[in-house]
Amino acid sequence: MEPLALYIHWPFCLSKCPYCDFNSHVREVLPQARFRAALLRELEWEAERLGRRPLRSIFFGGGTPSLMEPETVGALIARARALFLPADDIEITLEANPTSIEAGRFGGYRDAGVNRVSIGVQSLDEADLARLGRQHSAAQAVAALEIGRRLFPRLSFDLIYARPGQTLAAWRVELARALDLAADHLSLYQLTMEPGTAFEALHRRGEIVLPDEETAAALYEATAEEAGRFGLLPYEVSNYAKPGSESRHNLAYWRYGDYAGIGPGAHGRVSLGDRLLATRRHRAPEIWAERVEAKGHGSGEDVAVTPQERAREMLLMGLRLSEGISAARFAARTGMTLEKATEPDILAQAIEAGYLVHERDSLRPTREGRLRLDALLGALVC
Ligand SMILES: C[S@@+](CC[C@H](N)C(=O)[O-])C[C@H]1O[C@@H](n2cnc3c(N)ncnc32)[C@H](O)[C@@H]1O
Ligand code: SF4
Repeated sequence: MEPLALYIHWPFCLSKCPYCDFNSHVREVLPQARFRAALLRELEWEAERLGRRPLRSIFFGGGTPSLMEPETVGALIARARALFLPADDIEITLEANPTSIEAGRFGGYRDAGVNRVSIGVQSLDEADLARLGRQHSAAQAVAALEIGRRLFPRLSFDLIYARPGQTLAAWRVELARALDLAADHLSLYQLTMEPGTAFEALHRRGEIVLPDEETAAALYEATAEEAGRFGLLPYEVSNYAKPGSESRHNLAYWRYGDYAGIGPGAHGRVSLGDRLLATRRHRAPEIWAERVEAKGHGSGEDVAVTPQERAREMLLMGLRLSEGISAARFAARTGMTLEKATEPDILAQAIEAGYLVHERDSLRPTREGRLRLDALLGALVC
């Protein structure tokens, strides 16, 4: 049976950041008990149809999961452990905002079974934190990292770069400071303008100006270089880890493994017999909860993913990884060869140009390929 990665979505935040299009909502009073009961119920429902299969990772994402009561996190972990067959070295990650962290709460998550935290630091520059609409200071972020490092064996944090007006020199200094605080993993994202966000509206009106393409490429190169000096290697476009400390949960997505998604807006890809189902829960938190209360789950209709769609999705995910895509796994998951699923002329040109390496048992992007990944994928994938 294909092993499972379990994603649990907590949809609430203290405020909405102007760049963010994740399924996150602000509520005056957090409906903790209702959402705890509904998450547990949907987990039971999903487990019933999936059966007791091996469980490699659990990821509490958001929104801001560090607004969950530790008892809720503990109850979900205990239930998942009972419903599936947890790996001995199961990875259990919780995303946390520096604003919502205090040592007591973090200790509670650790006691509940969380063994990895991912902290949304975003920047170490006070003015940019304010511009990003963050509710915490750089000092609070550093304090959160210190608490996290003391309490958890594994820790990651997120930074956003290629911010308006950011120079290469300033980013190098900020990143070097961040790397001094890093443990075994970092996510370093270039700021993107997501449709429907406040930033995107400002960008359209010319009130936010992003670094041009050349500067963005230089920032990306500098990022990999600085991270490499600290032994953190890029294993995915935006993710850096010490070898062996890659996020197992995220690797399951990029390797196109099975993952189940619980909670508002969560999506999943789960094998049932010889079908691969695409699942998606209702996005609006209260409507999702009503549906779970009425029928055990907050899904609409699940759809079977066709072999062509599987191939497309696996290429889009797998070519983000430095290791690329295993030819044998591609064939097993999609029923197609890599050659059949890609445009032959584009594939040949991309190899010739040094953007992709095609070996007998894999297809992988080079560093130059990862720099141009969106354009490359657009042309390559049938
Ligand atoms: C689910 S979010 C956040 C976790 C947590 N709520 C927080 O904000 O600290 C995951 C990460 O995506 C990144 N992110 C969100 N929107 C982004 C954007 N428009 N551009 C670049 N990175 C973004 C941020 O680094 C964020 O920490
Ligand atoms: S970045 Fe994090 S805290 Fe900000 S709105 Fe998105 S999920 Fe919430």
